[in-house]
Amino acid sequence: QSFKTKICCIGAGYVGGPTCAVIASKCADIKVTIVDINQARIDAWNSQDIPIYEPGLEEIVFAQRGKNLFFSTDVDAAILEADLIFVSVNTPTKKTGMGAGFAADLAYIEAATRRIALVAKSHKIVIEKSTVPCRTAESMRKILDANSRSDVTFDILSNPEFLAEGTAIKDLQNPDRVLIGSMQTPAGLKAQKALASVYARWVPQNRIVTTRLWSSELTKLASNALLAQRISSINALSAICEATGADVDEVSYACGLDSRIGPKFLKASVGFGGSCFQKDILNLVYLSQSLHLPEVADYWNQVVLMNEYQKRRFAESVVKTLFNTITNKNICILGFAFKKDTGDTRESAAIAMVKYFLKENANIRIYDPKVPESQMRYDLTVEDNVDVDIYNKRVKVCDTAYSAADGVDAIVVLTEWDEFKTLDYKRIYEKMTKPAFIFDGRLILPTAELKKIGYQTITIGKGDVE
Ligand code: NAD
Ligand code: UDX
Repeated sequence: QSFKTKICCIGAGYVGGPTCAVIASKCADIKVTIVDINQARIDAWNSQDIPIYEPGLEEIVFAQRGKNLFFSTDVDAAILEADLIFVSVNTPTKKTGMGAGFAADLAYIEAATRRIALVAKSHKIVIEKSTVPCRTAESMRKILDANSRSDVTFDILSNPEFLAEGTAIKDLQNPDRVLIGSMQTPAGLKAQKALASVYARWVPQNRIVTTRLWSSELTKLASNALLAQRISSINALSAICEATGADVDEVSYACGLDSRIGPKFLKASVGFGGSCFQKDILNLVYLSQSLHLPEVADYWNQVVLMNEYQKRRFAESVVKTLFNTITNKNICILGFAFKKDTGDTRESAAIAMVKYFLKENANIRIYDPKVPESQMRYDLTVEDNVDVDIYNKRVKVCDTAYSAADGVDAIVVLTEWDEFKTLDYKRIYEKMTKPAFIFDGRLILPTAELKKIGYQTITIGKGDVE
């Protein structure tokens, strides 16, 4: 089949995969090729067991794969034939050197851009899909201009992605808005129109927002900072609730009814996780510092500090409640993903919790419906430096919530998986050490019922600690 338009997406991750799968499903006449340098990841995308768990994703991939959706490691071939190229590679926080701990590491963006420059033989629209610091498009342009054939031209667009994991397909199929930033030149505006016409197949015109390049880049960082700020705000209030006997769910509900505030993203929790919030705020902090705006930098940094405080506060409350020691006690962790309906664990609060409990010499039994043991082992021992012997000795990953909770001293709920709301808590209670403690870091448990059974319940943001 000959396709009118060809799209290449560099980076087959949590964003590139779902985003381009949805584009393929909405545009039968467009060929979409998602490429990656990670052979194992591409093999998985081409298998029956795709590498990302996201409700609805598998169905779309299976329906489009081999028709107009392809996964490949042949990056050059996909670049060569593409009219539009999404750059959707990872942009993690720099670990060393200038800006370490704050600035985004743009090495993958640079490598992908250099590849495009080297390979392209015809005009390309290059689209920043990754989250990048303001003015990255300018660096990309310099790299493209300096390394490409003289007869090849490029337009650069910023098209940040706003999907949330766990609801990615729904978010992509029905986005609040699609944002496309471009240079305000005739060529830039023409490229903007070309990309807008792809989204216009399924997104209403009034939700396709066009801006200047730098506004679009900054909007992505700003959106995540504003969302995370709401969570840190309600989490800060949760500490006041606990100290005063107020109930954070009631406060959140009543505040959210004010239409100027709104109800979303006001759920207190053990702390936000995920690959984006912390990274993007730190990026904004770094940007502010670079621009000599220290007050602005401090303001946003406080959102991250509050999140660290919330995680620490919750972990400490577990130790304090268990009579100030959890040495050799058995703690059941329910949920390891950073939120429900995803297997992603990046920056999950559970990692910090388990690490904290291991330092206190507890034995940990973990259950998560979607996170494999290999991932937990990697997160704790490789990413977070927990000693492998300690991990082997003290951590046990279980296949069910019941086996994880079997005979433990305390249960700690860290991810809001629906199945945790309806477990047979009576059955679990019977085998637990008494008093049987249950900590709800997500405000999802049927507390009144649990109390009736005999549990000591401790809920984030609720003052009625017993
Ligand atoms: P990811 O790590 O899941 O995927 C990135 C992929 O890019 C990896 O598979 C990696 O192998 C590949 N890659 C890196 N360099 C490459 C190169 N030179 N050529 C080919 N492939 C290359 O990351 P992600 O979660 O998909 O995030 C990608 C970007 O999107 C980041 O900038 C992130 O901030 C942003 N973002 C993420 C989310 C989210 O929910 N995860 C949401 C919005 C925006
Ligand atoms: C976020 C943004 O929502 C999305 O627009 C952006 O594209 C990527 O970053 P994501 O990290 O996938 O998406 O999930 P999100 O739903 O935002 O949750 C992030 C974290 O905040 C999770 O740990 C979640 O449990 C927590 N959270 C969310 C709360 O603690 N309380 C809330 O009210 C909402």
